[in-house]
Amino acid sequence: MSLTAAHTPAGPPEPRGPKYPFHITKEEERQLRLKGAEALPSLVIGQATSFDEYARQLMIPPAVMDLARKAEDLRLSAWEVEAMRKHLAPAAEPGDKVGLLRQILLEKYNRDQTHPPYIRVACSGRGEYDDLATEHGPLHPGGHPKGDIGSPVVLEIWPAQHYSPIHSHGHTTGIVFCLAGQLDVMVYEHLEWDARKLGLLTLTPGQCAWLSKDNYAVHRVYCPMDGGDGTTGPGYMNSTAEFGASFHVYLNPEQTAVHDHDGDSYNRDIFNYIDEKSKKQRPFATESDLSWHILRRVLANTPLT
Ligand SMILES: [Fe+2]
Repeated sequence: MSLTAAHTPAGPPEPRGPKYPFHITKEEERQLRLKGAEALPSLVIGQATSFDEYARQLMIPPAVMDLARKAEDLRLSAWEVEAMRKHLAPAAEPGDKVGLLRQILLEKYNRDQTHPPYIRVACSGRGEYDDLATEHGPLHPGGHPKGDIGSPVVLEIWPAQHYSPIHSHGHTTGIVFCLAGQLDVMVYEHLEWDARKLGLLTLTPGQCAWLSKDNYAVHRVYCPMDGGDGTTGPGYMNSTAEFGASFHVYLNPEQTAVHDHDGDSYNRDIFNYIDEKSKKQRPFATESDLSWHILRRVLANTPLT
């Protein structure tokens, strides 16, 4: 398979005033960062250095703290980051073959241009685009059915200047642990296009945000790093190898101590989001793009010189 990075930004001309992805002014951004820093419970898990910060940390549910403790020593090694950059890089010349991650971005871009694509890597199960890695060895025993949905543990790769729609994690309990680069997270009160914004935070490696049914379940994620030319928005594809990466865990209600028996399905197989064009709510089957055991092998086979 030979795909080339043909395009960059189609996107709309530079809009006046508030821009993608958050549609806020500089002053609103400043206010939302302050609001994020003062949120109760705290949006980010960390050691308190003041009494009021202690109170904000105290209100984080124990199930979340357990997930965060287990993730706190996770790191991407320098060679993994470097190999990911190689696989994200755009073609140097038109017609050059691009790496696995850029190929997946281009496939996703061709399917959906309502927002710039990012990559979900399943830490268990199969990915939708695993078959793009056949040259690196066998894929899955017993043939290759398409990707699974609802992986409880996912590595997300966010190319610079790409972002998600506003989406809800429903009734799951989970963490968003930053592994590389930089990620902005805007938290909303409800799943609606015009929902009230509860706060904006920037995660750097080692920092952990969280969500539960009752707190911070609705958000939008954006990688604010250097994406090259063009303006982020619908139809945008970046032209650099810069990226942020985050490690996500989602527990279904029956997997936490807070168990709700009301007969509905609130699990991680489907998350709802706000479609960027219609601004209406739609369901998103949480398909994985790639499986970690395949990506790890591809990264290990990548020459770094
Ligand atoms: Fe999310």
